[in-house]
Amino acid sequence: MKLFVVLCTLFVLNASAYVVKSRDDLLQFRNECVSELEIPENLVEQYKKWQYPNDSVTQCYLKCVFVKFGFFDTASGFNVENIHQQLVGSQGEANHDDAVHATIESCVDNNEQGSNACEWAYRGATCFIKNNLQLVQRSVAPSA
Ligand SMILES: *[C@@H]1O[C@H](CO)[C@@H](O)[C@H](O)[C@H]1NC(C)=O
Repeated sequence: MKLFVVLCTLFVLNASAYVVKSRDDLLQFRNECVSELEIPENLVEQYKKWQYPNDSVTQCYLKCVFVKFGFFDTASGFNVENIHQQLVGSQGEANHDDAVHATIESCVDNNEQGSNACEWAYRGATCFIKNNLQLVQRSVAPSA
């Protein structure tokens, strides 16, 4: 019985653990979202430069990528823990009291204004990318 409880606990902990994504994952998510949403080439070129114009196509693209990362979900919104863990990397520990956590948190909202999911994801994602661009880029940089 004890073993059963331990195994269940491990399973639950494990199920909620975020797996840090690699550069390959990012490139794969980008390709999947580009083809799912039929993003025109000129916009793709901008995304590769971390430029995200405020249009409905780009809003839905960022939502798509954030959903694939496990950063956003249409029902529950942003997952600050997962975003933080991605920035810290698989070796690091995301300390929920630190400044990075606070900057991520400052960018997310619960969509009190009732925007559609694409706008909601875009609002948080662009804020977060702008505030943490270097960390974001480093977290998915080609490994040295
Ligand atoms: C995007 O544009 C809309 C319409 O002009 C505006 O209401 C919204 O605040 C903009 N979003 C961001 C994140 O700048």
